[in-house]
Amino acid sequence: MTPEPADTPADPAADTFAEKLTLEEKASLTSGRDTWHTTGLPGALRPLTLADGPHGIRRQVKGSGDALGLTNSVPATCFPPAVTLGSSWDAGLARRVGEALAREASALGVDVVLGPGVNIKRSPLCGRNFEYFSEDPHLTAVMAGAVVDGVQSLGIGACVKHFAVNNQETDRMRVSADVDEATLREIYLAAFERIVRESAPAMVMCSYNKINGVYASENHWLLTEVLREEWGFDGVVVSDWGAVNDRVAALAAGLDLEMPPTRTDQEIVDAVRSGRLAEGAVDRAAGRLHALAGRLDGAGRFEDWDAAAHHELAREAARASAVLLKNDGGVLPLDPRARQRVAVIGELAATPRYQGHGSSHVVPTRLDSAWDALNAAAGPEVTLTFAAGYRLDGAADAGLAGRAAEVAGAADVALVFLGLPDEAESEGFDRTTLDLPAVQTELLREVAAACPRVVVVLANGGVVAVSEWQDSAAAILEAWLPGQAGGTAIADLLLGAHSPSGRLTETIPERLADVPSYLHFPGADGRVVYGEGRYVGYRHHDTLETSVAYPFGHGLTYTRFEYTDLDVRETGPNAWTVECTVTNTGGRAAAEVVQLYVAFDEERPTRPRHELRGFAKAELEPGAGTRVSFTLTGRDIARWSAASGGWRIDPGRFTVEVGASSRDIRLRAELETPGDGYAAPLGRMSTLGEWLDHPVGGRVLLERLGNAPGLTGAAQGSPALFELARGIPLAKFSTFGIGLSGDVVDELVAEVAGGA
Ligand code: BGC
Repeated sequence: MTPEPADTPADPAADTFAEKLTLEEKASLTSGRDTWHTTGLPGALRPLTLADGPHGIRRQVKGSGDALGLTNSVPATCFPPAVTLGSSWDAGLARRVGEALAREASALGVDVVLGPGVNIKRSPLCGRNFEYFSEDPHLTAVMAGAVVDGVQSLGIGACVKHFAVNNQETDRMRVSADVDEATLREIYLAAFERIVRESAPAMVMCSYNKINGVYASENHWLLTEVLREEWGFDGVVVSDWGAVNDRVAALAAGLDLEMPPTRTDQEIVDAVRSGRLAEGAVDRAAGRLHALAGRLDGAGRFEDWDAAAHHELAREAARASAVLLKNDGGVLPLDPRARQRVAVIGELAATPRYQGHGSSHVVPTRLDSAWDALNAAAGPEVTLTFAAGYRLDGAADAGLAGRAAEVAGAADVALVFLGLPDEAESEGFDRTTLDLPAVQTELLREVAAACPRVVVVLANGGVVAVSEWQDSAAAILEAWLPGQAGGTAIADLLLGAHSPSGRLTETIPERLADVPSYLHFPGADGRVVYGEGRYVGYRHHDTLETSVAYPFGHGLTYTRFEYTDLDVRETGPNAWTVECTVTNTGGRAAAEVVQLYVAFDEERPTRPRHELRGFAKAELEPGAGTRVSFTLTGRDIARWSAASGGWRIDPGRFTVEVGASSRDIRLRAELETPGDGYAAPLGRMSTLGEWLDHPVGGRVLLERLGNAPGLTGAAQGSPALFELARGIPLAKFSTFGIGLSGDVVDELVAEVAGGA
């Protein structure tokens, strides 16, 4: 019999609901009615409608309900995907996008939106990175949490996915992500944890992959011990589409809903009747679905939405998220009133790439191209000329390239639109290179040879390498996949109607080989080892001070900001407030993203050198300043201790850093923490050093050492020998004839355990 998890909290509501149902009825609820609906029971439970996806509603057209009818959905606003929205570092904006998603979901009869995706970008090659926010869990948690809050504020459910450690598409349905627990807790589970605790999402979607050998869908530790018992999740755990391999094992592990249905309810019934599955597991799943249906009241509440207003919000989000990587000589913004000839080069200017491929694909309500938007916004003195330059399918076309160079040669400035074609990145497979298509970089060289002022505008979901070609461009605007209003947003920025304010949520490495997971990704023989541990993205680069193309948090704008007056105050045990002033000292209105890192300066690193713990976006007129404030808690300086199975704060010094990127720290303050007072229990195999450092063990042992002359002699005579001795477990001392017999060690252990 599958053991009933002994300490799963009882759920009275679940039990009451389940009492009224037959076993067959309860079993039927634990899988869907069809691809997009849960099973209902007339008079007892309404079916719920679920729909992708994170950045727009993909409500499939009736009759194309299979999971592969990806592009056949009812038009809805295509907001910028997570890669883009995340780069805004603006939680208020993310919340408003969430609200808009909820309105559209409601109008389209959808109860639960299958998003946001909160997996960490472990490698820039992951084909689905465009659906994820960042390489950093704090930033992911805040931005995705804001989307969840926005969606759920209107009575629609959000479903965070893919729980957990789904950081690649290669072999995603089978691969085992092999990760140590500290890395899991600090990096890969941290965003899920915070969102579950603070935003109570309606659903969590388990991932396809295994974690340390156990499928997420059958992982009792993950779905019950961590998610429900530790974090208090009380919503529904749904499988990713097709992630269930064994329904009985999945229910026993804590999964509530299998999607899409495999019509194997009888297996559940038989398992309960034969005693292999506890009936309580079925009751709980049925009860949670019932509770969720009661909690959600949004579907159908709004009849329609304001398509123009949502398009405008999509434009604002795209504008707030584009990252100005470089801007030599202030080539941007272009003055829309000045007499000038502007070459607009690249097929992507006319045929935008604005979202990624796969289950998140939305049929937009409108689509703006940058070419149209530039024409609409530029004044009469600006002459705009378009040349496609390359084909999106990557095939070389000397005629197109030659014509583009000609157009560029006759222009004062060339805006060159480059990016990844649709086929290059998608759900379901990973990239193998960070490079742009060769036809595009070749074109850029030709254009740069013909025109001295070149601005590159990038469209891509996963990071692309820039080191090989960036000297050909004076400015680079990374627009990501900007959603349906991206073209207009790009024109807003190029022509200076707004200042760029996006910041990198992931490092742009110089070379693929510099990526910390490079030697491990995507694994082989069904396993992917997370050998780089917690050193993901800037955690690796900044600890080792490796050179990067652009660091985490980087982004320029059309003005400058000054940071002053750092003030740190202790507000309680392991609690501080951090404040500073940021002032716009340039000539244009713009927003600064003030970033707070906690740093541990260790001679020999045992943890990432610094980690993001807070950020705030401040919109400032020229000359204006504002006070920005953050709070720091014990958890912000804690690390996961696998030995003690919990978060621990080590006593000692640490530094609070405030700056404009992980490599541009402007203000610093040193602080000290007494730690959390935790002392690991001592045993026979604890080393001499551990005994001496222990608050009680040290005293108890030193009293005894008076009777162990060999040891004390060694301590006094030779520091090196003493250091050697510090590393030896007490139980081994008698072996080396340096006192402390086995009996004495036992007495010491008993004395310390008694707290003497
Ligand atoms: C994806 C999920 C998506 C689901 C339903 C799966 O293939 O991994 O993100 O929500 O399909 O379309």
